[in-house]
Amino acid sequence: METRQALLTRRSIRRYRPDPIPEQDLQEILETGLYAPSGVNLQPWYFVAVQSQEALDEVKELMGGVVERFRPVLKERFQRHPEQVGITSRFLTSLGGAPVCLLAFFYKPEYPSRDGTMQSVAAAIENMLLAAWDKGIGSCWMTAPQQMGFGPELQRRFAPDKGEFIAMITLGYPEGEAKLPPRRDGRYTIV
Ligand SMILES: Cc1cc2nc3c(=O)[nH]c(=O)nc-3n(C[C@H](O)[C@H](O)[C@H](O)COP(=O)(O)O)c2cc1C
Repeated sequence: METRQALLTRRSIRRYRPDPIPEQDLQEILETGLYAPSGVNLQPWYFVAVQSQEALDEVKELMGGVVERFRPVLKERFQRHPEQVGITSRFLTSLGGAPVCLLAFFYKPEYPSRDGTMQSVAAAIENMLLAAWDKGIGSCWMTAPQQMGFGPELQRRFAPDKGEFIAMITLGYPEGEAKLPPRRDGRYTIV
């Protein structure tokens, strides 16, 4: 896929077909994350790819708790689109049927510039989203589990010594097409 096309057509996917992701593709996606730029080349990241049924079930059970805490936030946010509350809740608890979910950790919590390191992990995540889309694999980047306070539990269960959990990313082949959420005008200036 041409780079610009990948950048413009990638969408957050919240419904997936059950088809597994070939091991080689999953490894290439993860590898691509490691080639992101990082402040002072710290590479302050760690990723866990969850794909066994048992581990996915554990994540989904935990996501049930995330949704319980998140529901008031969703109701507030989607006042004009109440149907989105159910749609988002179902996605979070089922992971949309994704065969893989990545857990992203911030691996250098002791580094003084938290902003720079956090941006580096975000760059690695975006690299992986685009590498996945290049293979026709959809994704959805989620911070809800971290925002709702479930980071420590995910750390304890999946990567006890790999830093702070910051995001979850579903991966899988899209079921249907996702709409393009509108983009806001006036968000850059050339001086
Ligand atoms: C840092 C970050 C956190 C996000 N958290 C969530 C989330 O918790 N749940 C969710 O359904 N989508 C989440 N998203 C996806 C956004 O809703 C989505 O990117 C946005 O609506 C634009 O749509 P697009 O990705 O299809 O272009 C997140 C995206 C980013 C970059």
